[in-house]
Amino acid sequence: MTDQGPISAGDDLPGKPTSASRTTLSHIMTAGDTNLYGTVHGGVVMKLADDAAGAVAGRHSGGPAVTASMDEMAFLSPVRVGDLVHVHAQCNWTGRTSLEIGVRVMAERWNESTPATQVGSAYLVFAAVDESGKPRSVPPVIPETDQDKRRFQEAQIRRTHRLARRRAIRDLREGRTDG
Ligand SMILES: CC(C)(COP(=O)(O)OP(=O)(O)OC[C@H]1O[C@@H](n2cnc3c(N)ncnc32)[C@H](O)[C@@H]1OP(=O)(O)O)[C@@H](O)C(=O)NCCC(=O)NCCS
Repeated sequence: MTDQGPISAGDDLPGKPTSASRTTLSHIMTAGDTNLYGTVHGGVVMKLADDAAGAVAGRHSGGPAVTASMDEMAFLSPVRVGDLVHVHAQCNWTGRTSLEIGVRVMAERWNESTPATQVGSAYLVFAAVDESGKPRSVPPVIPETDQDKRRFQEAQIRRTHRLARRRAIRDLREGRTDG
């Protein structure tokens, strides 16, 4: 199934390249960030992901944007106190008023001189909003590299599945079936 919904912005806003809003947020983990097991709480990493993605959404859309959903948050390995965490975020895709932001979470161990390793990833959808909280148009993202273009296409697939899942659940709750 494909989503035939809008994939370009309304209001003929000029496009913005992916690199214009790409953002990295870095943070050192402290004892206050830990769970009962002594490693960093997943919610702390999720907040950093949301913060970094929010910065990208604000930069790309040129104003306020709110988190509409967070998908596929994956925790690949534990983060520890003292780790320097880098959250890399970029705009993968834009719709009419929403954007998908991809986030990659990397950690550098405080006591090792090894390269940063990936510890997590997530996809967040933000809706750009006006002063009254109503969705407003966003500039279309212009993917630049082959990787940006691949991410755009993958984001379009996720978008299609999100919409289809919401529609299917709504239909089920309202007692509608395909047959
Ligand atoms: C997100 C929000 C602005 C959407 O408002 P709405 O009246 O439902 O408006 P729409 O249905 O037109 O949705 C706006 C866009 O967001 C997308 N969207 C809305 N809900 C979504 C969801 N759960 N997942 C993915 N995308 C979503 C829509 O597809 C649409 O995108 P498009 O214009 O690019 O096609 C509204 O639900 C809201 O304000 N939510 C609270 C956000 C918030 O406070 N976040 C912080 C959490 S504490």
